[in-house]
Amino acid sequence: MRVGILSSGGDCPGINATIRGVGKTAVNHFGMDVIGICDGFQGLLNGEYISLDDKSLSGLLSLGGTILGTSREKPFKNILDGSNETKPQIIIDNYKKMGLDCLVCIGGNGTQKTAYKVSQLGVNVIGIPKTIDNDVYGTDFTFGFNTAVDIATEAIDRLHSTASSHKRVMVIELMGHKAGWITLYAGMAGGADVILLPELGCNINKVIKAILSRAKKDKPYSIVAVGEGLVLKERSSNNDSQVSRLSKLIEDGTGLETRETILGYVQRGGSPSAFDRNFATRLGGHATELIAKGKFGRMVSIIDDKITSVPLEKVAGKTKLVTPDHDLILQGKRMGISFGV
Ligand code: F6P
Repeated sequence: MRVGILSSGGDCPGINATIRGVGKTAVNHFGMDVIGICDGFQGLLNGEYISLDDKSLSGLLSLGGTILGTSREKPFKNILDGSNETKPQIIIDNYKKMGLDCLVCIGGNGTQKTAYKVSQLGVNVIGIPKTIDNDVYGTDFTFGFNTAVDIATEAIDRLHSTASSHKRVMVIELMGHKAGWITLYAGMAGGADVILLPELGCNINKVIKAILSRAKKDKPYSIVAVGEGLVLKERSSNNDSQVSRLSKLIEDGTGLETRETILGYVQRGGSPSAFDRNFATRLGGHATELIAKGKFGRMVSIIDDKITSVPLEKVAGKTKLVTPDHDLILQGKRMGISFGV
């Protein structure tokens, strides 16, 4: 069998560990041929790929980013208005030209949706969920998330000293797109006093009240962790970013000096955590087993601590968001942490 691997969407720690997991299992255990398609679906459309063997699959475990490159190419976009009818056919043609028996798509929500559409063209597809955002439906966790939470937690840890020394409110914006997974996990692990999740929204008066109540208890400093997808009801007259507006509202409402930090892309760069290396390796190995068994059109996943797989059809087009009954929220609330609602 000949297997093609591609990585698509934003990079994240653990993609190379996954490529290694798929590739080494395919080559060394199942005796398959493996190629790496360059730059996601862009490379599939352009017919660009590299051969992967045991030697080229070495040294990847701890490497950040993706050796294959990535892109946000969406080959099924604009299909309805007829301006992009050729791309699906090019995919079928190139899949055949490359002599492939299966296409492994490593990526987040957008990628899994595209993977499903490619599978509907008659192509044998396996999806592997990847994103720091942890918002892929059909899996409890995605690799990259654990590393991002570690990085964000360390950043919050480091804000505590400035907050307490200067008696300031430190607002930190964390990634996650429309989901608050990183903010919830890192906020709790970093001991944030206010955690604002896009899923729950935010009542600014409650945030101000929580910070003032801490000040009354002789704690005139607070850490506010906020997910980048939070939409504030309060509008601003200029083009301030969401986090700047939030900081200003907090400063005006509490009278406490407030500073903001946007952590940004450092959350998804660099080496994966030990957890993500092992998780990515397991997902890669199980994906290859599905290929060997001919079980296509599925995405490998982890549910209740067990590696399993789900039909791509059930994943495509959905997003897994934080729900208000998440245990970390319940426990946090009982301890006096404000979720701004
Ligand atoms: O999906 C990962 C992620 O980093 C999100 O957290 C963020 O919203 C988005 O990608 C940023 O995308 P881009 O790489 O296009 O700037």
